[in-house]
Amino acid sequence: MFGAMQDTAARMPMIAGNWKMNKTTVEAVTLSQQISFESDKAWEAVEVVICPPFTDLKSVFNVLTFDHSSIKLGAQDVYWEPDGAYTGAISVSMLKELTCEYCIVGHSERREYFGETDETVNKKVKALLAQGLHPIMCCGEDLDVRDAGDTLAFIGEQVRLGWKGVGEEDIAKSVIAYEPIWAIGTGRAATPEQAQEACAHIRGVVADFAGADAASKMRILYGGSMNTGNAELFLPQPDVDGGLIGGASLDAKAFSTLVEMALKAK
Ligand code: 13P
Repeated sequence: MFGAMQDTAARMPMIAGNWKMNKTTVEAVTLSQQISFESDKAWEAVEVVICPPFTDLKSVFNVLTFDHSSIKLGAQDVYWEPDGAYTGAISVSMLKELTCEYCIVGHSERREYFGETDETVNKKVKALLAQGLHPIMCCGEDLDVRDAGDTLAFIGEQVRLGWKGVGEEDIAKSVIAYEPIWAIGTGRAATPEQAQEACAHIRGVVADFAGADAASKMRILYGGSMNTGNAELFLPQPDVDGGLIGGASLDAKAFSTLVEMALKAK
């Protein structure tokens, strides 16, 4: 339905690492030091974000600060209330204090195992933006939806509900990650054509409710078994502005290679 918007010049590529529930504090210090060691001045042309578990944020923050690194810090989830009796929850202010600039919201694993819904995703998106953090909102279909031919309608609805009531300026500064569930952690990535089709569709949906300008500025990432063996096929796609990387982000060499590939692709 929607054509690709080619205004890629306005969008800095992004490579974001989602460490998921991996790395103790000691391990996180080692991995972030290794990634920081691999990084280069040229990396400033790609926005590189690492999203460790909550318990690692402080120590990873210390490593990146010590190294004067351009690598940004992100969290994997947040709660929308500002404070109070919400045992186990983490607020936006807590993330902000640790200089998190990004936060993943609505990852399919949180939707599947922790009851995340489009409504709670929307609350988290708004809470983050209210304090100047950038959401990386995930969407993506399972295999049943894809086989039924409903992928674009399904992800379009997730995007519409996730960003309901959010202003155009905030949308322009935000990120969406298209992550087909069947491609996550399976080694079976989407094809570059499937990724481009979905990302172009998402951009078209965003243009519908937030205008073409915001849609052309918003970064849209592909995620799902992206690795050094296939990234060169995804990264040049006109509506794919980078990757949200799971497994390969736990290896400093692989993650660094992905950043270098993103530098070359755009
Ligand atoms: P994998 O790269 O391990 O497939 O994970 C993707 C993902 O879920 C990133 O958020």
